[in-house]
Amino acid sequence: MDRLSLEQKQFLYHQGFIVLKKAVSEHLVDRALARIKSAKKGENLSTEKSMTDLVNASSITSVLNEVMGPFDPPQAAQIGILKKRPPGNHYNNLGYKDKDMPYYGAELHMDGNITIAQPQEIQQGTSEDIYNRYIRSGPKGDLGRTAEVMGHNYTPLFQDPEMTLGLGSFTAFVFVCLNDQSQPGCGQTSLLPRAHHLTEKFFKWQYAQNGHIGPEGPDWPRLNTNSENRSGMNYLPEQILGAFIDEDSLATPDGRRWPKPVQILMEPGDACIATYHIPHSGSRNENGTESRKNIIFRIRNKRRQPAKVLTGISDHPDRGWLGEWLKYEHGNDPWQRSKQAMCNMWNEWEGMRDIVAAATKK
Ligand SMILES: [Fe+2]
Repeated sequence: MDRLSLEQKQFLYHQGFIVLKKAVSEHLVDRALARIKSAKKGENLSTEKSMTDLVNASSITSVLNEVMGPFDPPQAAQIGILKKRPPGNHYNNLGYKDKDMPYYGAELHMDGNITIAQPQEIQQGTSEDIYNRYIRSGPKGDLGRTAEVMGHNYTPLFQDPEMTLGLGSFTAFVFVCLNDQSQPGCGQTSLLPRAHHLTEKFFKWQYAQNGHIGPEGPDWPRLNTNSENRSGMNYLPEQILGAFIDEDSLATPDGRRWPKPVQILMEPGDACIATYHIPHSGSRNENGTESRKNIIFRIRNKRRQPAKVLTGISDHPDRGWLGEWLKYEHGNDPWQRSKQAMCNMWNEWEGMRDIVAAATKK
């Protein structure tokens, strides 16, 4: 299978993701698994050919070329291994105890967002005090509020020097499944189907207010100082969370309800392609008989920045991996291009044009 069917494209449009059964051959899956098995403790497999081949030597490349467009073959992958574990007593990135977070501890977020390690004590002081303490506790230390601040996930606080873009961006996720994840609670990637339409709409609305997009833009404060430790990340704006909450939604002990994500059930060799715009999360591997193994790629349509070669792992490719400032030719404003792409997601899905046109026809 080298391309999506019409029905698959329609599903991708409406739901924001599509699972491709057996997109990767058994041979490639076995090779990647063998490499994981032979890894020394702490060895980084990110740039191993057995990992990047899951896209570069499988049907995923032709599928993506057709539905999305041209992209650089990945040189690196995120090795998403989640060991089996019980619910934890620590504060998660949302500022709640892991064990208190419903839906297997899902922390639904947009990609490209800074994450600094959460304080494990309840924070004191004003919201401003807590914010200042938070951004000064990153890996680069106290830099004040600037676009130089980086997270422990290597993502910058802001993409641009003017601090008007709070999220990195790309076009598509690829999650390649290497172990049996057909039963819920095994650490599955979790998604919020259909929310990609809302994130795009929200970005557009933010941009129309004052040209700022992402956290610290309109109606999206960076931190939730009402969380249990008072320093949780607002990984999603209230407007989007609220749209997916009803009386059946489970709550944390403070009474706050959370959207229920869908766990993507896959088997070895299956792959999920999702839009950058979809809120997503890993989840706790409570029930698995082994570690959860997903190899994750972040792909961007080459036309956004034709002169830049992307590695396929970064969620902030307008900057270097460590936040380095890249050179752009005169007249090429990378922040403006990314804002436009974030506000018009389907422009970077070239094989989706007929489907988008038909779905949005009045
Ligand atoms: Fe993510």
